[in-house]
Parts: sequence; structure tokens; C-alpha cells
Amino acid sequence: MSQLLVVGNWKMNGSEATVAALLGEMVSAVQTPGVDVAICPPYVHLGQAVKAVASSFIAVGAQDCSSQTSGAYTGEVSPVMLFDIGCRWVILGHSERRQYHGESDALVAAKLAAAVEAGLSPIVCVGETREQRESGKAESVVAKQLVGALRNHAGIESLVIAYEPVWAIGTGLTASPQEAQAMHAHIRSVLEGIAGVDAVASRLLYGGSVKADNARELFAEEDIDGALVGGASLVASEFLSIVGAGST
Ligand code: 13P
Repeated sequence: MSQLLVVGNWKMNGSEATVAALLGEMVSAVQTPGVDVAICPPYVHLGQAVKAVASSFIAVGAQDCSSQTSGAYTGEVSPVMLFDIGCRWVILGHSERRQYHGESDALVAAKLAAAVEAGLSPIVCVGETREQRESGKAESVVAKQLVGALRNHAGIESLVIAYEPVWAIGTGLTASPQEAQAMHAHIRSVLEGIAGVDAVASRLLYGGSVKADNARELFAEEDIDGALVGGASLVASEFLSIVGAGST
């Protein structure tokens, strides 16, 4: 199994002061973690974050990127720019982007191709809503998102998929380790059917109300290779405990 990966998605939170405080605490605490660690602050704090984690084990990622490289795309940020300032990861297709910004699987696929071309490692998010789960469609929804997002996948060496059931994000409701494991096994089997994807080497993160007190049992599941953490990544002690749960 590959090394676990724990990623903090700060969403639209933070200020120069909190970035300095949070990362100051994390950098001194995260020493040879035995887990890959990345944090994804808002765009405006990425440069500050890259400097703050320099020569530490923490990498920096963005929460989204454009599907375009440069040009007349007002308000967009290109993956080339992100790589240039020191970002190495990018979250793509988060359910909040799909929900509030109408992102389609086709757009996620285009962003993924652009991100890989620029040298970034993408973290592709998939996940079903409560209604989709209750109507028995969770697996087919996730399979469709995967196939749709990975249609331009050529050249991805380190594929990372984050399974984030929409009903578990920010709600305090977590998929049970068994529910998450079942979906992760499904995701791996879908990846096996996509030519050119190394399903075994792909890392499958779980996201949705991951906390210090549920991380260990999630990480114990065979197909859970890490976590994409929202709210708990804004509290250094919580995030560090989640990283610690993956280290042991
Ligand atoms: P929470 O951990 O706050 O539920 O958010 C999960 C998430 O959306 C991470 O991308």
C-alpha cells in the first residue's frame, strides 16, 4: 500500500494571521510524519503558505484551478501559475464547486488535463448526495463521476481520488468506516476498468467530517489511503492528531 496522504482543505477560511499561526504550529510539529501531508488554503494565501512550509514536510495545494493555461479568463487562476509559485497539489471537482459553480464532469476532466500538464498532482473529488444514496444510486453516481473526470487522464502518475459523500461534509455525519470502505472498494474496481489507470497504486482519500477521534478507524480500512479534511484542518491540534493517526 502507498503511504497515506492527509490533506487539509481550508475552503474559504483564513487570514494572513491565521495562516501564520496555523502553519507555524504545524511546521514545528510535523517531523518525518510517515504520512504525506498537504494543506490547501484559499488562493490569496497560497504564496504565504508556500513560504511558511518551505523546508518542512508539508506541501501546498490549491482548492481549484482553471482548465486554461493563460489568457482572457477574468477571475481564473491557471495551474501553471499555481505550479510556478510552489503549489504541488490541486483539489478538483469538489462537491461545493459542483453545487455552487455548476461544475460538470467534463469541466473537471478539462481541469485535470490542464493540471497534470502543468505538473500538479490532482485530487479528484467524487461523492453522492443523501437523496442519491437513499435511492440506491450512490455507486452509479460515483462511477459516472469517475469515468467522466478521468476521460483525459493520460499521464497521471499519482492518481488521488477523494470520496466525499455530500451528506457527510460539514454535517458531523461521517460515513461509517464500513460504508466508506465499501465505496472505496467500488471506486478501486471502477478504476481497474479504466485503461491506463493503476488502480492499486491510486490513493483513495475519504472526506466528510473526519476528526481526530474517527480518523484511526477510517485509516484501518483496507482501501482508505488517507483523508481530505475540511473543518478539522483549521485547528492545528485536530489536524495534527489526524496526521498522527495515519502515522502509527
Ligand atoms: P468537513 O471535514 O468539514 O466535513 O469537509 C470535508 C470536505 O469537504 C473536505 O474537502
